[in-house]
Amino acid sequence: MKIDILTLFPHMFDNFLTESIISRAIDKKLVTINVYNIRDYSTDPHKRVDDYPFGGGSGMVLMPQPVFDAVNDLKTSDSLVILMTPQGELFKQKKAYELSLKKHLIIICGHYEGFDERIRTLADLELSIGDYILTGGELASQVVTDSVVRLIDGVITKDSHLNDSFNNNLLDYPVYTRPSDYQGMKVPEVLLSGHHKNIEKWRKEQSIKRTKERRPDLLGDD
Ligand code: ADE
Repeated sequence: MKIDILTLFPHMFDNFLTESIISRAIDKKLVTINVYNIRDYSTDPHKRVDDYPFGGGSGMVLMPQPVFDAVNDLKTSDSLVILMTPQGELFKQKKAYELSLKKHLIIICGHYEGFDERIRTLADLELSIGDYILTGGELASQVVTDSVVRLIDGVITKDSHLNDSFNNNLLDYPVYTRPSDYQGMKVPEVLLSGHHKNIEKWRKEQSIKRTKERRPDLLGDD
């Protein structure tokens, strides 16, 4: 898979791309991630990328020209263009699975003070990572990229994500490691029993119980 990210702040991706699972996935050539500076596509002599809003109002608005030129330069018939915006569809695990099967994602990071409405016409999909406002789409694009890349075949073992929270709309069951008794807090007997069927049953029950207690809204989700 290839992921192209369009941003005004490419350095915000430096650490993101060089640490942990993402960096290993890149090294193993399971994904290619390119970060492009939208400013490099500006045809303005001063490389301006934003301007005052028509009709007045505060803040500067990202112009269409550099974003259109960047997307048109990178786009192929395999591309899915995603715009990060708090006005987008709420990003969930199911969407992460769908995106992990795509060949090419182009992710546009929205501008903190707004972008020209016509930029929306470039996007196949608008995504929000939650009901709060970030200073820009950069962190949001990293959240989406991280959750998608870990699902690409070979990045982590299938077992590691089959039991993730949100699979089948259930939260994850509790897990424990050594010691079996830590300051009087004991690991549930069943997990020490070696009885695989009972362990599986207990985990399923715990998942359902947790979801009912903490996120009952998930149980009705599609
Ligand atoms: N840009 C600013 N806030 C955002 C959010 N919550 N999700 C996606 N993009 C954003």
